[in-house]
Amino acid sequence: MNDSVDPFEKSRALFERSQQAVAGGVNSGIRKMEAPVPLFFSHGKGSRLFDVDGNEYIDFQIGQGAILYGHAPEGMADALAAQARLGVHWAAQSELECEVAERLQKMIPSAERVRFNSSATEVVTAAFRIARAHTGRKLILKFEGHYHGWADEGLVGFAPPADRWGTEDEPTRLHPSAGVIESVLGQFVVARWNDIGHLRRRVAQYRGQIAAIVCEPCCCNTSCMEPEPGLLAAIRELCDAEGALMIADETITGFRFGAAGAQGYYGVDPDLTVLGKAIGGGVPFAALAGRAAVFESVISGKVVHAGTLNGNPLCLAASRWCLDRVLSAGPLHPAPLNLLGRSLMNGLSELAARYGVPLRPQGPGLVFHSTMLKQDAPEGPILAYREYARRHDAPRWAHLRRCLLERGVRAIERGLWFMSFAHTEEDIVETLHRAEPAFAKHAAEWPLL
Ligand SMILES: Cc1ncc(COP(=O)(O)O)c(C=O)c1O
Repeated sequence: MNDSVDPFEKSRALFERSQQAVAGGVNSGIRKMEAPVPLFFSHGKGSRLFDVDGNEYIDFQIGQGAILYGHAPEGMADALAAQARLGVHWAAQSELECEVAERLQKMIPSAERVRFNSSATEVVTAAFRIARAHTGRKLILKFEGHYHGWADEGLVGFAPPADRWGTEDEPTRLHPSAGVIESVLGQFVVARWNDIGHLRRRVAQYRGQIAAIVCEPCCCNTSCMEPEPGLLAAIRELCDAEGALMIADETITGFRFGAAGAQGYYGVDPDLTVLGKAIGGGVPFAALAGRAAVFESVISGKVVHAGTLNGNPLCLAASRWCLDRVLSAGPLHPAPLNLLGRSLMNGLSELAARYGVPLRPQGPGLVFHSTMLKQDAPEGPILAYREYARRHDAPRWAHLRRCLLERGVRAIERGLWFMSFAHTEEDIVETLHRAEPAFAKHAAEWPLL
């Protein structure tokens, strides 16, 4: 860490300047959460990221999960430069489209057909529209705490405050943003995650009206909550029985949980899959994949799917490079990432025990969440959004995160940690070495009562 009086001096100055031109000084709301100041970066290499003050971080935020391949990986710059010399955008077809689509077919059994967009938020919108057209029904069932992009449809019932939860049986459809189209909320049914009985009752309540059930197969966006045994199979079974589509939002889990994503990892076969982040390794690229029959409405033109930048060759060249990297990791992927992540989780838990910090990492390893237990909150895994809201001490985590950042360890503001192909065992050892004084500082400044 830069040992001047203020190690973030240049970031602070740039943040001041930025606010005079960029609304709020950031281009995605969540980035404002970074304390003590939203950082400005100059470059990255592998697992390391460098800010404008010269501070070096072992990075576990890795582009909110998009950088599965590490920062500036060997080969990707060449792939991008070679394509840039030929042209970055034609708004027309190229053989690259076939090459990327065929790789997706090879990797993901349910990907019989694909369509490309520039962000997963767009893809979610397309998936919902296709599901409604395919079934002739209007309702999408989604789960509390699952994030499906920032648009009107993606955030219904995402993370309501405790006084607006609704009942256990009837979770609220509250949207966290002002300005959404009010009637959109009526197009959704919200259910609690990891309660199969409750889910069955919700589906029965809206029999014949549900077009699709959508979920993050592992709910990485809230406490990294894996599905309880049988849940994904129950969703599949309910969709089949109801004539609804199953949509897996694999924006985070795609390619990270293995070449076939979380659907391969947990063994489930959705009708439609949302792919984002790692599919482009940091360029704006996303895809909708799914059953050929489900794409009929798009093929016939009944459903409009469009976008000027869709399938631009620059992003396709990056994606082809990324997918080849995942394929070359072979069938063992993601076991080594899980081992690395688990060793980091164990090391953090040991530090937490040593310094009396109520940190309880949870998740499979290749991605995990650093839950911080509130005073007197019960132990045990967090399986649902309301449990997370009741038990996770967000301000306390924010303080530890800042102490870690000051020591050169960067986790996601909301508590998530991602492993990448660039992280090594040495990185984990060094991370824990850097983390020790951060835990000591945190424990001294934020003692248990
Ligand atoms: C599960 C999930 N779905 C959709 C999105 C939206 O992706 P994007 O921000 O690329 O539009 C995200 C983003 O974090 C996500 O985590």
